Amino acid sequence: MEFNISVISGDGIGPEIVREAKKVLDRICKKYGHTFNYTEVLMGGVSIDAHGVPLTEEALRTARESDSVLLGAVGGIVGKDSWYDLPPQLRPEAGLLKIRKGLGLFANLRPALLYDELKAACPLRQDIAEAGFDLIVVRELTGGIYFGERKTEEIDGVMTATDILKYDENEIRRIAVKAFEIASKRRNKVTSVDKSNVLDSSRLWAKVVEETAKSYPSVTLEHMLVDNCAMQLVRDPGQFDVILTENMFGDILSDEASMITGSIGMLPSASLGEGKPGLYEPSHGAAPDIAGKDLANPIATILSAAMMLRFSFDMDKEADDVENAVKAVLREGYRTKDIMSEGCIYAGCREMGTLISERI
Ligand code: NAI
Ligand code: MG
Repeated sequence: MEFNISVISGDGIGPEIVREAKKVLDRICKKYGHTFNYTEVLMGGVSIDAHGVPLTEEALRTARESDSVLLGAVGGIVGKDSWYDLPPQLRPEAGLLKIRKGLGLFANLRPALLYDELKAACPLRQDIAEAGFDLIVVRELTGGIYFGERKTEEIDGVMTATDILKYDENEIRRIAVKAFEIASKRRNKVTSVDKSNVLDSSRLWAKVVEETAKSYPSVTLEHMLVDNCAMQLVRDPGQFDVILTENMFGDILSDEASMITGSIGMLPSASLGEGKPGLYEPSHGAAPDIAGKDLANPIATILSAAMMLRFSFDMDKEADDVENAVKAVLREGYRTKDIMSEGCIYAGCREMGTLISERI
């Protein structure tokens, strides 16, 4: 099969980690006879330097016309970088919001998987870490309180601010469908998280999710209140398969879920819309403190590329290959600096990418 991939290397460690992900994708092409055509698209600080804006209309068009987008990271050292004095809408990170919006990406997928080999780094109680977990947060990305009407005003001499949390049934249904589709490829369980004991928007959420579930008889649906979910994530994360939730709850819960794995350099993400293209990027940022030193962990980006194979190209076997290669290299004891522990073998960014591609 042949696909066109827009590649946004971005700033900081972006170019290093994307280079390693491409190495892995090239290996997959070789093994399976696929062709991936890459087009480099400028976004973030590099685009500001070249064009004065974090993402040009032309760059967005290129991304929109491709089959999928692979992104490293954008941004510099906040407070110190050369883009610091620019207004927020012209800073590197504004490119991120623009591309997410421009591609209509309403579903954000953040897996949190605790690798056997990295259990010692898990910040949870050791018996909980020992039990392990493998979950994915499916977060609604373009609705809810972050996109609702907002205002700050003075009412009867009192400063008052309002943010509106609003969802319609269509917004809820399309993200619910994504969650059930994903669950049916995993362990067939969806936990829908809301605050339906208080919020109307949550009551509608629960109702629409319940209706959607009828089309997926093999998937078990449970409902959980968000405060309880926050607690359950540290008490017993192994109970979760797919966590489905709205924008703000998902923002908070996905950060919590990523931290309990204890390793930011390992966590991929995917953002999907109605059709193509999806956007695939590591959960971490541009890590300017270690850029250009061959210290970055490329695994989050490599696993993001695996998600691209699975969700955009329908290549489950190829995606499994990449994920298994990552596990194999960890099992053999290779570690980048961020996940290093006693008795392990140090590998730089470049070597880690090479090792993983060789195991495919
Ligand atoms: P960060 O995620 O870039 O770095 C946080 C810490 O984690 C740093 O110590 C860094 O060295 C380390 N780290 C991150 N990724 C790593 C990897 N792959 N391997 C080893 N260590 C890694 O977050 P920070 O410092 O808050 O932000 C830096 C810049 O990145 C800012 O401009 C920020 O706005 C931007 N950013 C961009 C994102 C994106 O492009 N999606 C997401 C988050 C932040
Ligand atoms: Mg967040």
